[in-house]
Formats: sequence, structure tokens, C-alpha cells
Amino acid sequence: MPKVYITRRIPDEGISKLKEKGYEVDINPKDAVLSKEELVKALETKPYDAVLCLLTDPIDADIFDAAPQAKIFANYAMGYNNIDLKAAKEKGKFISNTPGVLTESVAEHTVALMFAIAKRIVESDEYMRGGNFKGWAPMLFLGEGLVGKILGLVGLGRIGSEVARRMRDGFEMKVLYYDVARNPELEAKYNMEYRELDELLKESDFVSIHVPLMDSTKHLISAEKLRLMKPTAFLINTSRGPVVDEEALVEVLKKRIIGGAALDVYEYEPKMVVGLNELPNTVLTPHTASATIETRSAMAEIAADNIIAVLEGKEPINPVKLT
Ligand code: GLV
Ligand code: GLV
Repeated sequence: MPKVYITRRIPDEGISKLKEKGYEVDINPKDAVLSKEELVKALETKPYDAVLCLLTDPIDADIFDAAPQAKIFANYAMGYNNIDLKAAKEKGKFISNTPGVLTESVAEHTVALMFAIAKRIVESDEYMRGGNFKGWAPMLFLGEGLVGKILGLVGLGRIGSEVARRMRDGFEMKVLYYDVARNPELEAKYNMEYRELDELLKESDFVSIHVPLMDSTKHLISAEKLRLMKPTAFLINTSRGPVVDEEALVEVLKKRIIGGAALDVYEYEPKMVVGLNELPNTVLTPHTASATIETRSAMAEIAADNIIAVLEGKEPINPVKLT
């Protein structure tokens, strides 16, 4: 019977799929991230044929060596920056991810963050709960509207495109985008305009990041880039924390060089850079953009399907290209 190791409990939909195939499925019994030593130890207990891992598990050559028999590491995430792809290639492992199924929920979360930061929802909520509301006032919690404003997308993948479509159709936003390559088809379809990154940052009222984390996107939004943004502009990040220089971000937020930031991801996750949590002009969520019941269940099924494909001698359904 093939043996599968799951590094942390995921929704049952994926686990039952594997069990229905008759596989022996072991799951990390504690609901916590395993340290590298713990993961190595767990993988060495049995000759596992497949591993289902999470974005919080750094997967490198040592981990691959601890599971010499495993043909596939199925990452329960769309992003796969936690995996050393070069080592995977050297060790002959398949890597898969879960694209597609989180597009909607991440796009929705992005929109939720845009509204929350512009309409000062979190600050207002705290104010109410604190018993501070003494009556309607003309200047109380003045925020910004979204209709007709300029949305600048850094990265035009599926998620970026969905955000574009929704905000253009629903809120008549003008949408600009930057990406490494222009996409004239999507540009026409969603009525967007291409800008170089600097221009996009200078013009946008909302800047939303939708690029994967790679060497070329680490600190793409650097101290200098942040200073190109309008003093009223908001930065939204639902991609990966290290795309933004978080220390520089705290600095520009503190000095009100930009209007605010709404973040779902952090450079040193789960930690925040000192001072970030004290800033009123932020909205902070704990990497939950894909956390809808529908999406997390679908991710579990996709990860399981990729494992099943490989254990049945096929290619993964959602292979990550090994470079
Ligand atoms: C979530 O961050 C993912 O990449 O799935
Ligand atoms: C998501 O699917 C993206 O490529 O942004």
C-alpha cells in the first residue's frame, strides 16, 4: 500500500480521497508547523511514497533525502517559494501546487482589504468597541471612496485579472497594470492600461500586489518605490510578504508618506516588523486570503489528486516547472 505523509491537518476532502485509494495516510498529530528536525524524523519513520506539504514547510534537499522514496511533494498552496526547486530537480521529485481554486477567494480578500483600509473599518470598529462613540459628527473617520479611483495592479495573473474585472465592473475604477510582459489580450478584455512599475506607483490610488515571490520580485516594492506612491495611496498585499520591504513600509506609513496599507502576508511571517501593529493606517490579516471553506477544501482535493496521479504512474495534474 502506498504511504502518504501530510505535514499538518488539512480539510477532510483531501484526506478521504487518499484513503479511498487504500493509501496509508499519516498526518502530523499536532496542529502546528513541524520544525525541520521534526519533519525529517517524521519522514524517516516509514518509506513514504508521497508527501503533502504546506507553504509553512521549507522543503529542501535534506527533506527530500529524508523521504528518498517519495515521488511527489504536493504543496497545499498556489505559491511554492517554500520549495527548493533546484534540489527537487536534482533528487527527481515531482512538485505540484493548487492553482486556479484560490483565485476567487484571494481576489475577494483583496477587495475586502481595499474597502477596509479606504473606509477605515478596523479603526472604526475599535472605536465603537472602546465605547468612544458620542454621536454622529461631520468629520468622524473620514475615509476615501473607491468609485472612479485608479487601481494599479503589480502582476497580472489570474488573481490580478479577477481583481481588475471586479473593480472595473463594480466600481468603475480605472485599472493600470504592470507585469514583466504585456498582455494585450487581457488589456483589451478588461480595458486596462499598461504602465512601467514607477509610473504605476506614481499614478495609482490603490496599488495591489499579485506577483509570485521569486528572486526577481523580492523587495520589488522597495523603500524607493514606496516613496513614488501618492501620499493618499494605499498598498494592498495578498501575495507574499517579502515582495515588499516591510521595514521601509513601516517607515513610510509612520511618516504618512503613503496613506495606508492592508496586508495579508508579511516579510518574516508569522512575525511582523516592529511597529507595524501600532499603526492606525493599516489593516492586517493573518495570511487568510484563501481561507474560505470552499477554497481550502478544493485545495485539499487538488493536492490529493496530484498525489494520486503520480502514485498511479502519471504526471502530476498541476506540476510546478522545475528549473
Ligand atoms: C497561499 O498563500 C497560497 O499560495 O496558496
Ligand atoms: C493566480 O492564479 C495568479 O497567477 O495570480
